[in-house]
Amino acid sequence: MCGIFGCVSHEDVVPRILQGLKRLEYRGYDSAGVACVDDRGALSLTRRVGKLDNLLDAMRDHPVHGHTGIGHTRWATHGAPSEINAHPHTGTSGTLAVVHNGIIENHDVLREELTAAGCSFRSETDSEVIAHLVEQSYTGDLAVALRAAMQRLQGSYAVVVVDSRHPDLLVAARQDSPLVVGLGPNELYLSSDIPALLEFTRDVMFIEDQEVVVLEGGEARIFGPAGETKNRAVQHIDWGGDAAEKLEHEHFMLKEIEEQPRIIRANLALRAPGQSVAGATPLQADHLPEGLFDGLESLTLIACGTSWHAGLVAKFWIESWARLPVDVDLSSEFRYRDLLVDDKQIVVPISQSGETADTLAALREARRLGARSLAVCNVVGSTMSRESEGVLYTHAGPEIGVASTKAFTTQLLSLRLLALELAARRGTRSPAEIAIAMEQLADLPRHLEATLARAEEIREVAERFSSAQDFLFLGRGVNYPIALEGALKLKEISYIHAEGYPAGEMKHGPIALIDDQLPVVVIATPGRVYEKVLSNIEESRARGGRVIAVAQEGDQRVAALADAVLPVSDVSEELSPIVNVLPLQLLAYYIAHHLGRDIDKPRNLAKSVTVE
Ligand code: G6P
Repeated sequence: MCGIFGCVSHEDVVPRILQGLKRLEYRGYDSAGVACVDDRGALSLTRRVGKLDNLLDAMRDHPVHGHTGIGHTRWATHGAPSEINAHPHTGTSGTLAVVHNGIIENHDVLREELTAAGCSFRSETDSEVIAHLVEQSYTGDLAVALRAAMQRLQGSYAVVVVDSRHPDLLVAARQDSPLVVGLGPNELYLSSDIPALLEFTRDVMFIEDQEVVVLEGGEARIFGPAGETKNRAVQHIDWGGDAAEKLEHEHFMLKEIEEQPRIIRANLALRAPGQSVAGATPLQADHLPEGLFDGLESLTLIACGTSWHAGLVAKFWIESWARLPVDVDLSSEFRYRDLLVDDKQIVVPISQSGETADTLAALREARRLGARSLAVCNVVGSTMSRESEGVLYTHAGPEIGVASTKAFTTQLLSLRLLALELAARRGTRSPAEIAIAMEQLADLPRHLEATLARAEEIREVAERFSSAQDFLFLGRGVNYPIALEGALKLKEISYIHAEGYPAGEMKHGPIALIDDQLPVVVIATPGRVYEKVLSNIEESRARGGRVIAVAQEGDQRVAALADAVLPVSDVSEELSPIVNVLPLQLLAYYIAHHLGRDIDKPRNLAKSVTVE
């Protein structure tokens, strides 16, 4: 939610900041702005409402140059999207400017106090109080002023300050919002996330809560809450050079859908270096802390959005293979309940970004109550990965499309490996069964490729049904979460209302919706509930519903009943969620494409929800 970027260099930083903002635009796109110390040593501010392109046009018409600057792309929380509410925000004197990601909860009290002290506010945002607080606290040292301002702030923030009195300096701080330092050969960066840094540098340092970082003289120095110096290791990120590029694809989402077979293959190879996947111990390459699973009695999986759907699938796998009870909860619900958590339980936050505010808070609460923790994250070094005892990285590479695709299937892969690992350790399945399950995973990329090869057929179905106002998605058993995910994908990017439902519950409500205007997408691949799902198709047809079925290639029974088929490769029932979600990702993509939607940046959404 909101992207922030900063740079200090001997060269002009403005093109870099704009490039960084382009990479961060998926975090928010209501308005954008840049502030830098220009050639004359003055603070120059350019802001525009709407997409980043509006800012780029403005800066093309009125170029600005400077060696130190900050930029922001906004997802509005306090104050409507408008130029006056766009970041950066300046203090009263106009010498300093700040960009902020997060929510300042006590902004109204501070605003009143600062106004009484003579500050003049221009925007309706919570963020502007930071600029005034830093300005009020300034006595010559910008880092000290920022630390003093932090004492007054309640809520979450990643904040960067630029000040024309210090033309070669940036200071920044964080509390519950992500902030990464990038160390380039001749310049230093600050960013909300790693993908925005990749084209400039692979060397990064993560800032922790309550820390202040000072970028000056080619050096990034980190200070703790009492001003004490902190040493921080530099981490090298080995994501590929074009990993965050769209390349020849029209949208990141399509690129990320198509990448899935390759990424899952590479992922398995990583986990079984120099040996066949069948012979590998599921999590042998994941460096988990000793004793993490000893005496374990239950698991609680916590997540939001698409990641929650991955948790729902994993419940089937872990309970069946490891015979351990699994609870799956929405982080936003979990964090405010009277929890029953203890040290025999492991809490598993599942998160692409590793920064989602609710999941992070839920993890912290569970840990406070004594639970063990194992994060399933994509972003290396993210807050959740750092705050959990163990991490399973999903190795999907940067995911830029707001609607999650490859992050989801790689989460499923990690969770499947976790189920097999627990089964192996607990002896609930034999080594031979584990080896067969691993071999099936090794075969998965082939099934994904075969399914993606039918994309043209899916596009035709999508175009045929794209005028519908509502969709119902039904699935059962291990594919019930995939029905939820199919509906979520469609809503997110096409803005068509869609509901996902467990097929067995259809008669308890959704059946009332069915008429000849309502396409019903049914996941009808073979498995223990196959016959039951076929009955649901019959029941939908009997009420005039138009059925789109996800079915295995060559399944004549389903083909005879459905109005349209989305064919998938013939994978086992257990692994079918990983394959069945692909045609639903494509269905949503092609419908949204046909309707001319902004697929990579759907309205009102943000990739990374770092506020509550
Ligand atoms: C947002 C994104 C979703 C994502 C969810 C959870 O809603 O738009 O794509 O599934 O957050 O994000 P996380 O990073 O925790 O997986």
